Amino acid sequence: MISIPQIILGTFQFHNTNELTSIVETAYRHNIVGFDTSPSYRTEGMLGQSLSVLSSQYNIPRENLFIQDKIDGWQMEVTKGNITYFVEYSLQQLKTEYLDVLFVHWPFPDYLNNTWTTFSKLKEQGKIKYIGLSNVRKRHIDKLIKETSIKPDIIQIERHPLRVCSEDIDYCQKQNIIVEAYSPICRMDKRLIESETLKKISLKYKKNIAQIILRWHLDTQVIPIFMTKKALRIQENSDIYDFSLTPEEIVLINGMNINYKIFVESACCPGI
Ligand SMILES: NC(=O)c1ccc[n+]([C@@H]2O[C@H](COP(=O)([O-])OP(=O)(O)OC[C@H]3O[C@@H](n4cnc5c(N)ncnc54)[C@H](OP(=O)(O)O)[C@@H]3O)[C@@H](O)[C@H]2O)c1
Repeated sequence: MISIPQIILGTFQFHNTNELTSIVETAYRHNIVGFDTSPSYRTEGMLGQSLSVLSSQYNIPRENLFIQDKIDGWQMEVTKGNITYFVEYSLQQLKTEYLDVLFVHWPFPDYLNNTWTTFSKLKEQGKIKYIGLSNVRKRHIDKLIKETSIKPDIIQIERHPLRVCSEDIDYCQKQNIIVEAYSPICRMDKRLIESETLKKISLKYKKNIAQIILRWHLDTQVIPIFMTKKALRIQENSDIYDFSLTPEEIVLINGMNINYKIFVESACCPGI
């Protein structure tokens, strides 16, 4: 059984260690203990520093934090999938002996199988607790399992009311693969702010639209990874445990799906 926080803070678009340290501390005070980074965000070192400050300040043992990192396409390319060196470097940056999750950031076809086999070895060695795939659909997961016989523990995909991904999520959840949603509030796209469906549900529960959407993720057993640079929004986004949506409200939100994607797959990962 995988033990994973219900909500995770992302670090994409942080450029300043002090700013991140302050947000990480606010997040921890609101019971957020999961943090997501990637070499391409250039936040591994900053997050390592922030978590080190936080851990000393509150005397937090490593196992009470949950750190997720990724391997990027260029790292797969230059090592032909033997990415151990980069994982060691990430561990140093994050000032930790192990990662809770390591994801393949994009399923670039070149060296994917070899990268995935290396992930599995690192898991056996205890350098990574869980292995994951990001930006994948059912077809990628199926193919990789067929070719390597290694099942992911977790996937991380773009998911929000404009991109509900019911089929992929259903496929994963049936196989006990945990699903995480990145861009879970779709960066508060205007179509969400102006949605009559969300406005009505928001009025009923006296929660704002971001809170309703985050709760929709939880109520569909998906872990949202959100980002904010504002302390007040950390507080808001973590105040979602005193209500839950009805099955009918979940169906209404699912009905907003238009398969909209902020990160266009073919542009980010050509050939897939
Ligand atoms: N695997 C991948 O390929 C991938 C790709 C993208 C992202 N991610 C991960 O997912 C994390 C989140 O992604 P994201 O930043 O794209 O999406 P997001 O969390 O949906 O949107 C973040 C934006 O929403 C605003 N926001 C946050 N809470 C709000 C609230 N309560 N009300 C109104 N606005 C709010 C934030 O602005 P303020 O700062 O002004 O609050 C920020 O601009 C990233 O940090 C990263 O860790 C992964």
